Amino acid sequence: MTGRIPKVAVVGGTYVDMAIRCSQIPSPGQNVDGSAVVYTSAGPGPNQAVEAALCGCEVYLISKVGGDPFGQMVKANLAESKVNAGFVYNANAKNTGALVTLVNAEGENATCVYCGANSALTQQDIEDAEQIIAEADVCLIHARLPQEAVVSAIKCAKLHGTKVILNPARPMELPGQQNDDLPDEYFSADILIPNLYEAADITDQSDASVHTAKLIASDLVARGATSAIITMGKRGCMVVDRTGADHIPAFEVELVDQTGRGDAFAGALAACCTVEDDLRKAAKFASAAGALACTKFGSIEVLPTKAEIIELLQKEDTE
Ligand SMILES: Nc1ncnc2c1ncn2[C@@H]1O[C@H](COP(=O)(O)OP(=O)(O)OP(=O)(O)O)[C@@H](O)[C@H]1O
Ligand SMILES: [Mg+2]
Repeated sequence: MTGRIPKVAVVGGTYVDMAIRCSQIPSPGQNVDGSAVVYTSAGPGPNQAVEAALCGCEVYLISKVGGDPFGQMVKANLAESKVNAGFVYNANAKNTGALVTLVNAEGENATCVYCGANSALTQQDIEDAEQIIAEADVCLIHARLPQEAVVSAIKCAKLHGTKVILNPARPMELPGQQNDDLPDEYFSADILIPNLYEAADITDQSDASVHTAKLIASDLVARGATSAIITMGKRGCMVVDRTGADHIPAFEVELVDQTGRGDAFAGALAACCTVEDDLRKAAKFASAAGALACTKFGSIEVLPTKAEIIELLQKEDTE
């Protein structure tokens, strides 16, 4: 061991989440009074970057925010969480991506997502961050971005021998651009990490069930990916590579709020893969992070630390 801190480059969308508490979610034409509002940094970019940083990695986020004060807020929050925001670009003429969430007294919510500056992340932006991707051990990409940026990040990482972990969510549909088939580059990833519904969507499988997860993951591997992990919420995840398929059950935890579970899983997986070659061990570490994210109310501010993840893994080993 050289004692070098592992490096992770995260490419993913950045949003500000404005959550308003209200007694009921209004119907069209209705006005209701809100009782509280909270603004937080959100989206797969910040969430996954913060999780990897909580797992002890040196983390760089490559993303884009608008010229509004929310963009500055997100960058300041990232810095507080020890994520390097030097490659969080500004699209001054645009607004930062936003989620407006209304939460009623029963804890149910309704959300509207506006992609904002995320739709302006370009191939050039990725190329400008080439050095960061080249020096990283893992490049973690969430594909809900313009396709040219995602493809460019995959190519750049492959060129420099950086491991690619990709959530192959459908790219953003930009005006005049239709993305029917996923580009071939997606299948050059080292690990594809869709959830069951994303996986069924990209493989045109109409039946998204635990029974078909193995089939779907095998299909992704047959199309070229080195491995695939299909996440299935409290039903755990399915790990498939050329050596076979294994189901990793979820940790049993008391469910409080599921927000951020997928991002906790991805960020922890990326961090673990910087030092661990055993994919099943890494998936178990990530599963513990996903489970812990379900045990507290909130998202980015309650993501689990490496110590908490290790504690849950050890607890299971002694039971
Ligand atoms: N209720 C739960 N209990 C225990 N573990 C969970 C639970 N929900 C999720 N996990 C763990 O987290 C992993 C990722 O969760 P999930 O498959 O729900 O991701 P996702 O659908 O991408 O979530 P998100 O909506 O946050 O993007 C699961 O494979 C599992 O290991
Ligand atoms: Mg997800």
